[in-house]
Amino acid sequence: MLRFFRRRDKSNIEPTVAKTNSFDGNNADILLNDIRDEFGLDYTKQRDITLKKVERFALKNSIYSFIELEKKLKMDSHLKQSFINLLTVGETYFYRESALFDLLCDTVNDNRDFKILCAPSSSGEEAYSIGIYLKEHCKGSQDINIVGIDINSESIKRAKEGIYTKRSLSYLPDNLKIKYFEQIGDKYRITNEIKTLTDFRVQNIFDSSLFTYGKFDIIFCRNMLIYFNEQKKRETLEILRKLLKRDGKLFLGHADIAFMPEGYKKVSKNRGSYFVRDRM
Ligand SMILES: C[S@@+](CC[C@H](N)C(=O)[O-])C[C@H]1O[C@@H](n2cnc3c(N)ncnc32)[C@H](O)[C@@H]1O
Repeated sequence: MLRFFRRRDKSNIEPTVAKTNSFDGNNADILLNDIRDEFGLDYTKQRDITLKKVERFALKNSIYSFIELEKKLKMDSHLKQSFINLLTVGETYFYRESALFDLLCDTVNDNRDFKILCAPSSSGEEAYSIGIYLKEHCKGSQDINIVGIDINSESIKRAKEGIYTKRSLSYLPDNLKIKYFEQIGDKYRITNEIKTLTDFRVQNIFDSSLFTYGKFDIIFCRNMLIYFNEQKKRETLEILRKLLKRDGKLFLGHADIAFMPEGYKKVSKNRGSYFVRDRM
């Protein structure tokens, strides 16, 4: 694609090329492979649509080729963060696949200083849902800390604000909406009682800084692995295994993996299943 600036004078002057775009598909693969290696995101199946998005992003930032974009992303952390925000999909809502929450109380009731990792948390709905569920159903739960991480900085900002639309609360029973939200106009703000249980950070799951958060009793990792290829799924599961305390539990989404992860035992109950760390 070329951009032309025509002179006002409509005489016989040829259009002059202002800037030449060279979004070459082969160079796009280098960029897409970098994204997959660093963040796990695999766009093989949505290659064309992703490249169109990337091309629009580049042009908006006065960048005219995939190679130039790749170089600039390495040098400019703000550009890189906006790029990641553009690529990631944060579709989520309160009480999503909530049957799994019923499996929480057994573990929580036995513990104090209970730590849960919600990776990825997106804009906070899952982490806050866990907090609400624990307050409602797991009466023995004390000193709960729910850490939510996500690579999308806009999502983490929204999680920290804790203000949601009616739509994202549509699966939440009405009594819980009233008890745990303050209505401001057509929006709903999560109460401090739940907010203070949580801590949200911008974090890539593959970045070793994740290990500075300590170990967790429970990890929720739902609806992120679906965007990864099998190798990256396995890498993630090994990272999460190392982040679990002995006998720690991992909860996945039902479409996240189609294989048995190594180093875990699967526990199935009526309401769903989870994986327990089975070796150190
Ligand atoms: C569909 S949301 C899932 C949110 C929530 N767990 C749920 O099930 O509703 C997927 C999230 O994964 C995040 N994500 C993708 N790759 C990631 C990575 N490498 N590290 C951390 N978060 C990542 C995206 O930014 C996005 O917010």
